[in-house]
Amino acid sequence: MIIRKILITLITAFAVMNCSATKESEREISEDAARGKYAEDPHSFARPWEAVVTHLSLDLTVNFDEKILHGKASLSIEVMPGVRQLHLDGGDLVIERVTLGENEIPAEFTLGEDIELLGRPLIIEIQSQTEAVNIYYSTIPQSGALDWVASAQTAGGTHPFLYTQSQPIFARRWIPLQDTPAVRFTYDARVTVPPELMAVMSAANPTRKNPEGVYEFVMPQAIPSYLMAMGVGNLEFREMGRRTGIYAEPELIEAAAYEFADTEEMMLKVEEMYGPYRWERYDLLVLPPSFPWGGMENPRLTFLTPTVIVGDRSLVSLIAHELAHSWSGNLVTNASWDDIWLNEGFTTYLEGRIMEEVFGSEYEQMLSVLARGKLLKEIKELGVESPDTHLKLNLSGRDPDDGFTDIPYLKGKFFLITIERVVGREKWDAFLKTYFEKYAFKSITTEDFMDYLNANLLSSDKSIADSVNTSAWVYSPGIPGNFPLVRSGELESVNRSASMWSEGGMAADVNTEGWTTHHWLKFLRSLPRENEISRMKDLDNTFGLTKSGNPEILVEWLVISITSKYEPAYTVLENFLLTVGRRKLLKPLYTKMAETPEGLATAQEIYEKAKPMYHHSTKLTIAKILGLEEMQ
Ligand code: BES
Ligand code: ZN
Repeated sequence: MIIRKILITLITAFAVMNCSATKESEREISEDAARGKYAEDPHSFARPWEAVVTHLSLDLTVNFDEKILHGKASLSIEVMPGVRQLHLDGGDLVIERVTLGENEIPAEFTLGEDIELLGRPLIIEIQSQTEAVNIYYSTIPQSGALDWVASAQTAGGTHPFLYTQSQPIFARRWIPLQDTPAVRFTYDARVTVPPELMAVMSAANPTRKNPEGVYEFVMPQAIPSYLMAMGVGNLEFREMGRRTGIYAEPELIEAAAYEFADTEEMMLKVEEMYGPYRWERYDLLVLPPSFPWGGMENPRLTFLTPTVIVGDRSLVSLIAHELAHSWSGNLVTNASWDDIWLNEGFTTYLEGRIMEEVFGSEYEQMLSVLARGKLLKEIKELGVESPDTHLKLNLSGRDPDDGFTDIPYLKGKFFLITIERVVGREKWDAFLKTYFEKYAFKSITTEDFMDYLNANLLSSDKSIADSVNTSAWVYSPGIPGNFPLVRSGELESVNRSASMWSEGGMAADVNTEGWTTHHWLKFLRSLPRENEISRMKDLDNTFGLTKSGNPEILVEWLVISITSKYEPAYTVLENFLLTVGRRKLLKPLYTKMAETPEGLATAQEIYEKAKPMYHHSTKLTIAKILGLEEMQ
């Protein structure tokens, strides 16, 4: 065995030497050409310009007892002439052995130094004719990509649950691959789970359980690694529309199917505006409450927090958002995390357009006004001169998660609204449609988009280009001078009610008829932070805020309750922190509590109890807020 290994190494070394002498210049040229195709990605060790992964074949067993995934990843690759190494992201995986091709010829590999956030490079020695590598590996129980949810934290309380979260750079912590959004590949998978559970992926999915617990998946559309996803639990499937359905625990399926019944209609609306849905089906998966996000746009199967199932369909803009990613993000993808606004800004813009189509323009105006308020607050917090307020970011040497502020989402949205208003909606929509078509299944940089925008929309008329002023939006900090005006009559009237109450009026005199979640959010955000207990009681007794089943409204109310020291809300507050793991909802609560010494002490106490149910990334965020150390 050892002799064989040495022989292979010698042969490989000889081949490299031999080739490098004769083909050096040819290789440089073709490598340069290939390198140009791939944007620099400071968050990946991959070198796709040398050898690029085109297909992934997974064979995994899910072991709930040991909290590991174990199995084999076979990567089909295309290798540039003269290249003898394949560079992958190995994260924190335990690599058992690596072989080459169908004949499984043993291969040499090295795992490089572990770099904080990035993990370790996995370098495999290949041969000129290598078309595939097979990696036998397992994950570690603490993998940041995997949330092993105990039965007690699920809706049913009787079966465990596992879900992955790959965006932005966690795919490497459950699969060895080229973990950069610049590379796209197709995949198939065979996943073995305990027979009482069902597995689903970001691929064509089963609709019923398999008695052996073995599931096979195919994903014929090429995707970037951050869209690799898997969920395993006591799942049931329910059809919602022609191409839409929902996966959830049996205890939630009814409520979920009701909540998201508008999904099919939303799909039809986007297709009308921006061209066909290219992924065949669009299903939803409801996760346990520890899921740190509202939603994650995994192709064909959006992952969702259960906290949006509130019974009145009032939080479905989240579905509009994740669905819109099927065009902006999944179809046309940011080439690196510095270009994240191409994903999130376009998606937030599309989300608004879908909401306008389905619920009317007054509804969209409310979203825009709230978005403007949030954006101004974010810019103030980041600093008006901060480069983190540019649309094009520079996240080199930093956690790409730091880039997911309100800037790419909301400054991105308002940039696109600006262009829409300058050129007119009709022209703009036609442009967007061709943009999605032209770059379908490609990963592009901000500069690619800017070139395309200039060539097709702006360059013909200098006054148009001047009115849009792209560089102020994309490469400059803060709020550009041509920031679009947005108004909402609805929210202005809410504002008046809030002022009336703040000046001593009574809650009973506020007319809340027909209020949506957004009216409530605006109302609560407009109230003084600190109120006398009797005044808090007036609000609570009239509107039942402490009892609100809508987590977004509840969080706004709890924030005021913390600053007002309104004790009747404390039990609900503690219970909320112990049962919900969505970061966006937890952050404002812990942040407010941490502002006073007593609050901080209570928050730390609750956090210690809540920790076992929080996702890895939630723990990091909250520990930071509370001044605690948490393991990376
Ligand atoms: N792609 C994001 C979720 C994400 C962001 C995962 C960063 C990992 C790193 C998703 O589309 C998203 O934006 N979710 C938002 C939804 C909201 C803006 C409607 C969320 O979860 O809050
Ligand atoms: Zn998004």
